[in-house]
Amino acid sequence: MQEPQINPWSSTPSGDIEKTFGDFGIDPIAPVLQELPEVPDFMRRKIVLGHRDYPAIAGAIRNKTPFHILTGFMPSGHPHLGHLMVMKEVIWHVQQGGNGYITIADREAHAVRGMPWEKCRVYGREYLACLYALGFEGQTYFQSKNDRLKDLAFEAATKVNLSELTAIYGFGPETDLAHAESVITQVADILYPQIDREPAPTLVPVGIDQDPHIRLTRGVAHKLRMFTVEERDGYISVRSKNAPERALDAVKQVFPHVKKYEGHVDIRGTGYAEVSAKVRSIERAHGGYGFYTPSSTYHIFMPGLTGGKMSSSIPESIISFYETEAVVRKKVMSGITGGRMTLEEQKRLGGEPEKCSLYLLNLFHMVIDDKVLAEIRRKCTAGEITCGQCKKDTAERVVQFLKDFREKMDAAEEKIEA
Ligand code: TRP
Ligand code: SF4
Repeated sequence: MQEPQINPWSSTPSGDIEKTFGDFGIDPIAPVLQELPEVPDFMRRKIVLGHRDYPAIAGAIRNKTPFHILTGFMPSGHPHLGHLMVMKEVIWHVQQGGNGYITIADREAHAVRGMPWEKCRVYGREYLACLYALGFEGQTYFQSKNDRLKDLAFEAATKVNLSELTAIYGFGPETDLAHAESVITQVADILYPQIDREPAPTLVPVGIDQDPHIRLTRGVAHKLRMFTVEERDGYISVRSKNAPERALDAVKQVFPHVKKYEGHVDIRGTGYAEVSAKVRSIERAHGGYGFYTPSSTYHIFMPGLTGGKMSSSIPESIISFYETEAVVRKKVMSGITGGRMTLEEQKRLGGEPEKCSLYLLNLFHMVIDDKVLAEIRRKCTAGEITCGQCKKDTAERVVQFLKDFREKMDAAEEKIEA
């Protein structure tokens, strides 16, 4: 069996992230930033680097038209600081007018990690408490409790076959069905806001490890459409994929200048946006979904304190939201830095913040003020501060952050149902 290039359940691709993006057709986000009325910290600090179809979202923010923002968490352990980035992305987009959705992927945790349902519930609620503590507003659900989601997953499953799952995830004859079901449930998650509310651009902020799911879902969203609308030279082509004849007739009637063919029409004199909107509403009037192909953003991962990935399976690598003060201090003080071997070298050469898990912790979450962050960086590279002192300062910030955060989590407790 050929190993997939990105396996959502085991690897975080290392090495040159820009190259990985390029290989998969993920675009750099920098050129899109000017389309946003306001650039959030996580984009300005180059934590969120890549996207698929983000201009659809930037446009919706700018024009104040509807859009959805959705992400999901697998409740296979306590939430930790490594999860905070996507949470902030969701909340920022809700503040920009997006309809917020959070899915707790208990089906996935149960199928792939063997998590008992009761534990899924406990961990899932912790994730929700974090989100509400950050100011989340919108819908939340557990996959296993959402019947409309499960129906949508079944419908989506009519458009995916086993060889596709093999190509994307490396599934083989030994893969159990529940694992495959959890994949199609995630596809349904990503499309869910569009059936729950209305078809609209949907943003899914994720790490690159989730990109296989995004690619699969984009394909399914397209396959579930009745029509394909494409801009051609001087006209718009509308093709029926599996539209009932009546729906195609309706398309033929609604535009003034159409050339009719078997199974498709060419439209002149009407712009793409208008054609696409009208075709979508005709599709919906005839029982179709009218899905927009979902958009995504990709962020870099905050490294674990032990160097590699922040992962619940390496307790020393993470800081969870429930850790005691003493443990937080100990973990931060023993975190991997970009410091030199000796104090003399540190003074002479300065430290290397890019390689320092603590600098990145500050960059991601602990230091909001750009000037303060720049000063930490300057002192580090100039050799003006020792790692010992810098770690102490960072530990102080983390302790304070968690203290405030936990208070907010407690206050959010009542917002969590079930
Ligand atoms: N698979 C994701 C994870 O492992 C969780 C998830 C489920 C998700 N559904 C989603 C993420 C929809 C984004 C969008 O964390
Ligand atoms: Fe990291 Fe601070 Fe040491 Fe620089 S001085 S390497 S930022 S711990």
